[in-house]
Amino acid sequence: MDPLVAVLCLLPLYPASHCPNPGISVGAVRTGSRFGLGDKVKYRCSSNLVLTGSAERECQDDGVWSGTEAICRQPYSYDFPEDVAPALGTSFSHLLATTNPIQQQKKENLGRKIQIQRSGHLNLYLLLDASQSVSKDDFEIFKDSASRMVDRIFSFEIKVSVAIITFASKPKIIMSVLEDRSRDVTEVENSLRNINYKDHENGTGTNIYEALHSVYIMMNNQMNRPHMTPEAWQEIRHAIILLTDGKSNMGGSPKVAVDNIKEVLNINQKRKDYLDIYAIGVGSLDVDWKELNNLGSKKDGERHAFILKDVQALSQVFEHMLDVSQLTDPICGVGNMSANASAQERTPWHVTFKPRSQETCRGALISDQWVLTAAHCFRNAEDSSLWRVSVGDPNFQGGKEFQIEKAVISSEFNVFSKKNQGIPEFYGNDIALLKLTQKVKMSTHARPICLPCTVGANLALRRLPGSTCRDHEMELLNQVSIPAHFVALNGDKLNINLKTGSEWTNCVKVVSEDKTMFPNLTDVREVVTDQFLCSGTRGDDNPCKGESGGAVFLERRLRCFQVGLVSWGLYNPCGSSSKNSRKPVPRGKVPRDFHINLFRLQPWLRQHLEGILNFVPL
Ligand SMILES: *[C@@H]1O[C@H](CO)[C@@H](O)[C@H](O)[C@H]1NC(C)=O
Ligand SMILES: *[C@@H]1O[C@H](CO)[C@@H](O)[C@H](O)[C@H]1NC(C)=O
Ligand SMILES: *[C@@H]1O[C@H](CO)[C@@H](O)[C@H](O)[C@H]1NC(C)=O
Ligand SMILES: *[C@@H]1O[C@H](CO)[C@@H](O)[C@H](O)[C@H]1NC(C)=O
Ligand SMILES: [Mg+2]
Repeated sequence: MDPLVAVLCLLPLYPASHCPNPGISVGAVRTGSRFGLGDKVKYRCSSNLVLTGSAERECQDDGVWSGTEAICRQPYSYDFPEDVAPALGTSFSHLLATTNPIQQQKKENLGRKIQIQRSGHLNLYLLLDASQSVSKDDFEIFKDSASRMVDRIFSFEIKVSVAIITFASKPKIIMSVLEDRSRDVTEVENSLRNINYKDHENGTGTNIYEALHSVYIMMNNQMNRPHMTPEAWQEIRHAIILLTDGKSNMGGSPKVAVDNIKEVLNINQKRKDYLDIYAIGVGSLDVDWKELNNLGSKKDGERHAFILKDVQALSQVFEHMLDVSQLTDPICGVGNMSANASAQERTPWHVTFKPRSQETCRGALISDQWVLTAAHCFRNAEDSSLWRVSVGDPNFQGGKEFQIEKAVISSEFNVFSKKNQGIPEFYGNDIALLKLTQKVKMSTHARPICLPCTVGANLALRRLPGSTCRDHEMELLNQVSIPAHFVALNGDKLNINLKTGSEWTNCVKVVSEDKTMFPNLTDVREVVTDQFLCSGTRGDDNPCKGESGGAVFLERRLRCFQVGLVSWGLYNPCGSSSKNSRKPVPRGKVPRDFHINLFRLQPWLRQHLEGILNFVPL
């Protein structure tokens, strides 16, 4: 090797570098390889890639490179939700001026998570860019995205007001947080639906400053309302979501408006939880990354804005923007809807039994101290005080174990009651309730599911007070084939279709064809009474043996409702093998699964849960 080259290669080592190696991202070319104080590095992108971030960075006094990482991207590429979610925390900080950039970056991180909590009030400001650079189609995607976010925010039953502002050269207030209807999800969604892109046809520039300034004015007006006390004002949290392509081209720096907002909200170190600002692009936007990049100061380790492919991707990201750790009351049926959430976070009501014998079962929290499960789990009744119930807990990987104070097993359950009719096993009234010795601490990993016909479920369905159990049944089991779920041994959420009406009759009739299980059966209804929901037709997952007792649930209004519990079936896909290996249905075998229908066991549930849950009239 030419000795001169070797020397050059070693050069970056002396003098000792003052800044860390700033790296070279994929597709980028760097010139400059000295990392000492005052040294500069330059970046450019190969071929037709677009540079975002800083084209030149300088090693500063404090050992940090000026600007932000240079990333080369395809002109029309999207961010993946899983990449955006962790980065969102700093998405808007570039708009905030500061005298000390380092302190700003490390300590005062304004783009944080939106806290969902029972106390106080949340103001959500949705700013939709309707300027010329956003096509009508993309504007429609903004509307859908806003609607999804509204639906999810309201699903937590928190006190929330939604402001809707569209903007181009000028902002237009569609709905203000000062109006009563801003607290009504139906009104908010109607307003969003009726927004007209043409509203801004006479001024199609992009004035992000004015849009944010109108939020500032709205805040001021709310603060100065006659009956607004300083205490009540201080309790309101504010989240601003700007759906835009980022091409601000008039009105000057949005930073001034943000500074005013921070001032009126008295945002300081102690109160930084009270303001969250996000900038997001959704759809096939022609985002001008360079311009977007120039919007404000660039800081190490930060990103300025995000562009997501579609509404689904935005929904995923939005799920990560929410912090529900303060939601400590037993609100029912709230699971984490992120694809990336853990199994327990997705179905936090799910519990596992650890009996001393081999047989295991599953169950569902229906309050902070009660578990609903199947009676047959207690068939070989050893003392239930020896059982342990494993409940989700963020601090324990496998959950936290609880003891059982009492087990209420349906006295009408008797698996052998029809033996003399040629039915070897009968699962009518396969239902049981367990009271845990202690209350479960509510968390992202442990919350009850909504039991239909309760006041909690009525709220979750956003029905008016006075709705009946029959109304709930009509809303939840309203089609002949209803997509539903159960939880597998490994925690996965599996899919089934519950059959009702004529489809139910078709679903259950194959039972009489199963001559191994029921050799002498003449009337199917002797085995499958109307206490059972039926699933397991083509394409459905089939529950395994140890999955009995677990909730059969469905999703409405972004909440989960337990309509049944796994009881028995014609085919066990796990066989005698262990977890996680479900075998396909063998030829000649017709699978069917039957789940106790909770609408049919209302009298029993009401009798045993009196004073624990509030029921609506039948
Ligand atoms: C999603 O999960 C993957 C792999 O488990 C992880 O690397 C990534 O950081 C997660 N993303 C978020 C947003 O939590
Ligand atoms: C735009 O200007 C035209 C002509 O002045 C007017 O008729 C129309 O109503 C304006 N559109 C809007 C949305 O203000
Ligand atoms: C969902 O889970 C993710 C990852 O654990 C978390 O960051 C996010 O805050 C959760 N969101 C909700 C609504 O629970
Ligand atoms: C079915 O009927 C046959 C003949 O009547 C009887 O021998 C057999 O025990 C019955 N099977 C069951 C499971 O009851
Ligand atoms: Mg524009």
